[in-house]
Amino acid sequence: MKKLLATLAFCATAAAPAFAADCATTVEANDMMQFNTKSITVPKACKSFSVTLKHVGKMPKTAMGHNLVVTTAADMTAVNADGMKAGAASDFVKKDDARVIAHTKVIGGGESATIEIPVAKIATGTDYSFFCSFPGHAGIMKGSLKLGA
Ligand code: CO
Repeated sequence: MKKLLATLAFCATAAAPAFAADCATTVEANDMMQFNTKSITVPKACKSFSVTLKHVGKMPKTAMGHNLVVTTAADMTAVNADGMKAGAASDFVKKDDARVIAHTKVIGGGESATIEIPVAKIATGTDYSFFCSFPGHAGIMKGSLKLGA
């Protein structure tokens, strides 16, 4: 039993620094209209969770622009449709859209953009989505985001 407790204590200590450093992630987007991940887990211990979108392609943002928008899974389709109407000047996100938890601007190849997600806005048991609202992209460029342990 003593040995087991010692092992558990060691694991807890070893995990702590990594946990603290996990309040950030990077999502890559490319010229093939793809994100390099389908899911993001936000650690409950973070106050703010930082997501950096990195466009690793070469195409300009007018042709293959990408952004990263976070909403509930339920709001995604409507937010995406309103974003398309809002147009490129608004980074394909309707102005002051309360359904949008966070979003980056639209970027082109070689660029990157970072957003901060207030973790208090992410509820346990609710499914969230991250997606690219550049017209025609959300069908492929989407993934799920949820609150983790
Ligand atoms: Co895109």
